[in-house]
Amino acid sequence: MAPFPEDIDVFTVPHSRMKQLVQIYSQKLTSTNFKNYCDFENLLSDLYATFIEFKTHEKIENEEIMKRLKLKLKALSISNSAVCNCHSDNRLSEMLELFHNGFRCNRRTDLERLRFAAELRFALEDFTGKFIPHMQEEEDVFQPLLMKYFTFDELRHMKDVVLTRHERW
Ligand code: FEO
Repeated sequence: MAPFPEDIDVFTVPHSRMKQLVQIYSQKLTSTNFKNYCDFENLLSDLYATFIEFKTHEKIENEEIMKRLKLKLKALSISNSAVCNCHSDNRLSEMLELFHNGFRCNRRTDLERLRFAAELRFALEDFTGKFIPHMQEEEDVFQPLLMKYFTFDELRHMKDVVLTRHERW
C-alpha cells in the first residue's frame, strides 16, 4: 500500500512500472544465451525499448514534477540542491549508447559478444543499483516535499497529468 494518500502520490504508480521493467530485464539477462545471435539481438532490442521508457519517465518527472517544485521553492526563496540535481547523475544516455555498441558488436565473433556481455552485465547491475535507490529517494524525500508545498488539489492534478503522460507513452 502506498505510504501517502493515493490521490496525491505522484511516484508510486509510475515507479511500479519502472520496477517491473527492471525485473524483466534482470531475468532476461540471466536467461540470454549470448552466443546466440537472435537471443543477443532480442535482449538488446528489449533493453533499448526499456531505457527509452526510462528516459520518457525522467522527462515527465522533470517537466511535471521537478520543474514545478523548483519554481514553487524559488517563489518561497527556499533553496534545495537535491531538487536541482535529482536527474543529473543518471546514465540513461550512456546505457543507450552501450546498447548501440552492442548491436555493432553483435555482427562480430562469439568472443567479442561474450566480452560485450560481461560489460553489459556490469553496466546494468551498476545502473540498477543506482536506479532503485533513486526511485526510493523520490518517494521518500520528494513526495513529502511536494506535500509540504503544494495543495491537495494541485497534487491531485499533478498526478493526473503524470499518469496521463505515462499512459500516452
Ligand atoms: Fe522516478 Fe527519477 O525516476
